[in-house]
Amino acid sequence: MREVRASAPGKVNLTLRVGAPTPDGYHPLVAVFEALNLRETVTVRTSKAPGVRVETIAYLSDGSVDEATTRAMADVDPATHLAVRAARVLQRLAAAGPWASTAAGLSIRVDKRVPVAGGMAGGSADAAAALVACNELWELGLSGEQLQAIGRSLGADVPACLAGGIALGTGRGDHMSVLREVDEAGAQHHWVMLLAHEGLSTPDVFREFDRLDAAGAPALAEPTPEEVAALCAGPEELCHCLVNDLQAPALRLRPELAETIRAAADAGALAVTLSGSGPTVAALARDAEHAQGLASALSDVPTVARAIPTCGPACGARIESTEAI
Ligand code: C5P
Repeated sequence: MREVRASAPGKVNLTLRVGAPTPDGYHPLVAVFEALNLRETVTVRTSKAPGVRVETIAYLSDGSVDEATTRAMADVDPATHLAVRAARVLQRLAAAGPWASTAAGLSIRVDKRVPVAGGMAGGSADAAAALVACNELWELGLSGEQLQAIGRSLGADVPACLAGGIALGTGRGDHMSVLREVDEAGAQHHWVMLLAHEGLSTPDVFREFDRLDAAGAPALAEPTPEEVAALCAGPEELCHCLVNDLQAPALRLRPELAETIRAAADAGALAVTLSGSGPTVAALARDAEHAQGLASALSDVPTVARAIPTCGPACGARIESTEAI
């Protein structure tokens, strides 16, 4: 029996430009993602019992178990859990390989630190980590490109969680090119992620975008080299670049998010933006100390459920350990 542990990052959108929907209902996107130091850990283990079992444990920032989210995750239909869906795709490939005899049974444990339904790609990070872990477990030898293609079929944010760093997504936001790898010397971006009391459905926010944008969205342009340089530079330059076309529709669905945004600006954030389709609001700080200060100042705001300081860019999905058990 073997056990492999992998991790993958949640994300914040530095930019998110949305075009008019195509006939399949999806929207063309030009999005710049930054992987964050909030990571999901997925541990996969071959098991004698056939089938795929999953257990999810969610944590708060202080490392204690988030009982409410853990209970809610226990009720999620495994068929819709992205880690399970990812594992099943690779399980089918493994059934034809040298590990065929051990491919029938798999147990998955997800240690969750990225908030659920927050616009931070927590579910997609589960899928990304599960893909990398199962690729190693069954020695499938799938390339980064092949994992990207499988990731894309599971969800539009999975490729960004695989890639990490600062990456541009085009198409449905799922065709990635890395703009900046993670390097020790590069500028860090410090954030406070301001969680709402209740999640927001991504399809609902896109539908509201369509309603607001009935006249048709403008043509999408990729960022210019100057814009890319600013997105990858320090916070003083980044703060002028943050933009999210889903912010207006998300605010229509959740007017109280305006209070969170205003409170973050009043508290001295360099810039404030919605993360993905929300409802998490991301406040950009000058440095780690400023982020800590913003988090304590904003945790008492009534519309904020939790304020989590974090930073980016972080590395993409990667193996943490492999063990024979
Ligand atoms: O791909 P994923 O399952 O993460 O997308 C969730 C939903 O978000 C889709 O069902 C669709 O309604 C919306 N979406 C979209 N255009 C995109 C990405 C997502 O309309 N490029």
